[in-house]
Amino acid sequence: MTPYVADPVYLNGSFLPLAEAGVSPLDRGFLFGDGVYEVIPVYSRRPFRIDEHLGRLQATLDGVALPNPLAVDDWKRVISRLIAAAPWDDQSIYLQITRGADDKRDQPFPLASIPPTVFGFAGPLITPSAEQRARGVAAISVADQRWARCDLKVISLLANVLARQQAVEQGCAEALLIRDGYLKEGAASNIFVVRGGLLLAPPKTRLMLPGITYDLVIELAHTYGQPLEIREIAETELRAADEVWMTSSTKEVLAITTLDGEPVGDGRPGPIGERMWQWYQDFKNTVMRKG
Ligand code: PDD
Repeated sequence: MTPYVADPVYLNGSFLPLAEAGVSPLDRGFLFGDGVYEVIPVYSRRPFRIDEHLGRLQATLDGVALPNPLAVDDWKRVISRLIAAAPWDDQSIYLQITRGADDKRDQPFPLASIPPTVFGFAGPLITPSAEQRARGVAAISVADQRWARCDLKVISLLANVLARQQAVEQGCAEALLIRDGYLKEGAASNIFVVRGGLLLAPPKTRLMLPGITYDLVIELAHTYGQPLEIREIAETELRAADEVWMTSSTKEVLAITTLDGEPVGDGRPGPIGERMWQWYQDFKNTVMRKG
């Protein structure tokens, strides 16, 4: 076991140690990035919004014409077994399906008789540190160079990888992706903006991943009466924001307090983001940890 991957992992119907899990170099995930994935947070050994995560996995599989190799109940059984075997109470479950390994390298789909490669593992859930939460994190903005189906959670993430690397090289935690003058999301997160007490969220289009955390944040805004507008956010509005946050299964709700070296608002995590983080924790602790 590595500190980040629990044994056993799941591979093609078997549970086995990571060191014994192997796939062919002809796997289409390896050759073409031809596959999909999902990341599911686990709190107190309970998977968070599992039906929503498995629903998004199905939507992505449909979007790339890859048959789902497992029924929902079978996915749940795999996930339960990974959770039970892992040493941590809070975890992150990674699932990946590729279009399998043919006996050649050829772009069109292989014969239906070629089985997909199905992989899953549990890792520890690494949420932001107390210091990151207290100070917020820095981000850069970059041009969104991804393809036109960013609503699909596919493993071909090169544009995201390059954007994120650029951020890291500048000492930043995230890269905000701007397309045609509008904020879409982060390289691995959704982005919310606050202006004058109003919470702004970019709409779900083909140019943004429909985040499970994004949906919960919007639900919580409705529940607690936080004014919210779902609409395109111009880059100029992003730069004039009082607060900017990133949301994801692992980052939860995290303030971005510096953008391209300039302070966001007063340069500290803002009150609406703080409230949203608390609502998120309350939701987690009541709905999740107490069952
Ligand atoms: N990333 N947008 C992108 C591009 C993402 O990669 C992610 C998640 C999100 C947030 O989605 P959710 O709230 O469902 O986690 C938005 C995962 C965590 C990852 O790639 O590791």
